Amino acid sequence: MKTNRRNFLRTAAAGIAAASLADFKSFASSPNSIRLPSPERKGRSVMGLACEPLKTVRIGLVGLGMRGMDTLGRLLYVDGVEVTAICDVIPERVVQGKKVVTDAGRKEPVGYSNGEEDWMNLCKRSDVDLVYSCTPWLLHTPVSVYAMKQGKHTATEVPAATSLEECWELVNTAEETQRHCMMLENCCYDFFELNTLNMARQEVFGEIMHAEGAYIHDLRWLKFDKEQGSAGMWRLKFSRDHNGNPYPTHGLGPVAQIFGINRGDRMDYLNSISTNQVGMSLYAKEKLGPDSPEARQTYLLGDMNTTVIRTLKGKTIMLQHDTTSPRPYSRIHMVVGTKGMARKYPEQQIALEPKAHEWLSKEDFDKMMADYEHPLSKQIGEKAKKVGGHGGMDFIMDSRLSYCLRKGLPLDQDVYDAATWSSIVELSNISVNNRGNSVDVPDFTRGAWVDTKPLGIVTIE
Ligand SMILES: NC(=O)c1ccc[n+]([C@@H]2O[C@H](COP(=O)([O-])OP(=O)(O)OC[C@H]3O[C@@H](n4cnc5c(N)ncnc54)[C@H](O)[C@@H]3O)[C@@H](O)[C@H]2O)c1
Repeated sequence: MKTNRRNFLRTAAAGIAAASLADFKSFASSPNSIRLPSPERKGRSVMGLACEPLKTVRIGLVGLGMRGMDTLGRLLYVDGVEVTAICDVIPERVVQGKKVVTDAGRKEPVGYSNGEEDWMNLCKRSDVDLVYSCTPWLLHTPVSVYAMKQGKHTATEVPAATSLEECWELVNTAEETQRHCMMLENCCYDFFELNTLNMARQEVFGEIMHAEGAYIHDLRWLKFDKEQGSAGMWRLKFSRDHNGNPYPTHGLGPVAQIFGINRGDRMDYLNSISTNQVGMSLYAKEKLGPDSPEARQTYLLGDMNTTVIRTLKGKTIMLQHDTTSPRPYSRIHMVVGTKGMARKYPEQQIALEPKAHEWLSKEDFDKMMADYEHPLSKQIGEKAKKVGGHGGMDFIMDSRLSYCLRKGLPLDQDVYDAATWSSIVELSNISVNNRGNSVDVPDFTRGAWVDTKPLGIVTIE
């Protein structure tokens, strides 16, 4: 069964004409929608999972590159956290990581740097409660799954998975082991996103019908930087092999929380289209020379991808991905309701009835921000800004994670969110390869979304 499923998914992802629509239609809920089979449940639902409270959250951190080193420095300021073990395939990074911790007057963590699989030994340690992964994408699911199987909670950088098979593996393992698996979607904790969630819960925008999110970030310099990461230009390799939206969760996470995705509503299907790929080849030619392997290489990832998702309750989400074009950074973050709207990029703005045809004045906007400031930013926003990490959102995320684990509370983002938000990586690829045909989004909650309440306005005290 497993091999058949794998073959099926591989065929679907490749969009091979002979096998494509005829096969898909046999699974279709609607004659025009591609639907992929879901595996059987082996464990128990982890919706609302609450585990034994931890006195201190003892963390094993895997991956000490750009993100991991920042994370290590930040975790030193998070209440109730101790980093007991660190791992990277590059031994110097482990040495450097140990120094960061001891320079702060903390106990030296145990280091692992003995090859590609030494992170497994970190996962086995009895003084690790949470395995925190800042590795390249293809390691996120293997590390999380292995960690849960060792009885650990796990938190992983985004996206948590790069294929549907991995999404289901995360869900099934969390259900079998009854461990937390959180994807570290930090943008859910940025200040404007927290405020719009608070406003949405208080129905300031009326019923929200449409939202937009994006990852628009010119990363050509990083993709083609040969010095980055031991995995060697792993972002570029992914752009070579995949189309669609490979990095959907920064734009999607905050609006999925606003809509109550997996908690009262569910993503039904999506359609996705991409432009041709032009920008990466051009950049490689200019920077590395027309005869360089990078310039001669074919890349599947279109410069711009646009995905539109419809929910079962008739709401729409537009997601965009562009890491190639020379343009300013944007996650859009727009919510549009029956009484008004908000958007974050290019400038934070709100428009409300009865004058919704124009943006609020700066004075009125600032008053709204103050009136609807989220409790999390009131409680630790100032400290977060000082510690840093994307302006503070990373610190708020880690602090809330630590708080929930120490109180034995369910996490704000569970394994179903991790799987659903990450599933867009492969689903968008399938749709792109089939002329933007609609693809059904699997119900990773297996029905639990119906009776689950949307995430509330959470605090840390
Ligand atoms: N949430 C955010 O805002 C944000 C920001 C930046 C990066 N990220 C994510 O963080 C992750 C890491 O990104 P990065 O920019 O730090 O990449 P990076 O390449 O700089 O770092 C990855 C690290 O993992 C190590 N590594 C690779 N294989 C390993 C293995 N088998 N065992 C142990 N260590 C291994 C590498 O040596 C490297 O130090 C990615 O998933 C990325 O998407 C998230």
